[in-house]
Formats: sequence, structure tokens, C-alpha cells
Amino acid sequence: MKVFATAAVLRKGSFNRKLINLAANKMREDGHEVDLADFAEFDMPLYNGDIEKTPDGALELARRISEADACVISIPEYNYSLPGILKNAIDWLSRMDDVPVAGRTMSLISASPSLVGGNRGLWQARIPLECMGAWLYPGMFSLAMAAKAFNDDGTLVDPALEERLVYVLRDYLTVTAAHNAR
Ligand SMILES: Cc1cc2nc3c(=O)[nH]c(=O)nc-3n(C[C@H](O)[C@H](O)[C@H](O)COP(=O)(O)O)c2cc1C
Repeated sequence: MKVFATAAVLRKGSFNRKLINLAANKMREDGHEVDLADFAEFDMPLYNGDIEKTPDGALELARRISEADACVISIPEYNYSLPGILKNAIDWLSRMDDVPVAGRTMSLISASPSLVGGNRGLWQARIPLECMGAWLYPGMFSLAMAAKAFNDDGTLVDPALEERLVYVLRDYLTVTAAHNAR
């Protein structure tokens, strides 16, 4: 299966970048092809209805999502919600003639230095994505205390948490294969 994976961040030392890298490695170990993108590749202006031409960054994001069978995004929690760069990208995607996430499955994961993880932000991110017709996988993996959670090699300090991540990814891709075969 071809999986599009990205973290909705620009920060170089981002925990969500680390988490999506780990997720991509795990999916590759399971034999999947992973298109791992840096969100900086999808540079785009703030949504403005007066701009008639869809920005190239939004078109590129749409193309990469459309070319994949599945989509995993790691999303930081900002103020109990989704970060502005992701909401802005969603708004651009939602105005396209062919909305790229419509009818497709998506899996949302998160890493946060807080004690509770980034789950509240993931719930908020589901709303506009479901509005656009995406099928959101319910098992959202959320890594708490992310500053202490990673080993130097990018694996997780707690093997039980890493097993949980692998379970979530495998289950998501199994469900997606059935969804796509309908
Ligand atoms: C604008 C802003 C709002 C934030 N709000 C939250 C929050 O609501 N919950 C939380 O757990 N962390 C919050 N944080 C802390 C982020 O989880 C932390 O900066 C994290 O490292 C961001 O993800 P990254 O490491 O992938 O860049 C916030 C950070 C910023 C910059």
C-alpha cells in the first residue's frame, strides 16, 4: 500500500516530526511504500478568496494525498486545537473542484511534551477533515511527555507505547485496504 505521511509542523526539532519518522519506518518495515513529506514542501499563503489561482503548495499537497492509498498525519496540539498551518492548508484543499481527502481514510497521531498528549487537538482536526468527506480512523495515537519519550535512534523509550503505535498503524492500514476495495 502507498501511504502519504507528514507532520503538520515547520519546527526542525519537532516531536511530531520524530513521531511521523518513526511511524514511516514502522510502515516501511511492514512492506508499505511511504511518501514522507516535510510540510515545508507545501508552502502556501493564508487563504484569501480573492486569490483566484490555487497556490502551488496546496496543489502539491493535494497531488501527494491523491496519489496515495492512505494518509497518516502527525499533528501538534496548539491551544487545545489544530495548528494554523494545517487549518490553512485544509481551507485551500476544501475549495478545490476535486477535494483530495473526500472519500479517503486518514489516521491522525500526535506528540506533545504535556502530560496528557495532543489528543484534544486531534479531535479538533477531525472536524474540518470530516466536513470535507474524509473517513477518520478512530484509534488516535497520542504520545505524551514527548521530550522524554524518544531514544537517540528515534524509537520510543517505552516499548509498550511503540507496540501500540504499530498496532494502530497496522489496524488503520487493514481497515483502509477494505475501505479502498469497496
Ligand atoms: C501556539 C502554541 C500553543 C500550544 N498549545 C498547546 C496545547 O494546547 N496543548 C499541548 O499539549 N501543548 C501545547 N503547546 C506545546 C506544544 O505541544 C509543543 O510546543 C510541541 O513541542 C509542539 O509540537 P512539535 O514539537 O511537533 O513542534 C503549544 C505550543 C504552541 C507554540
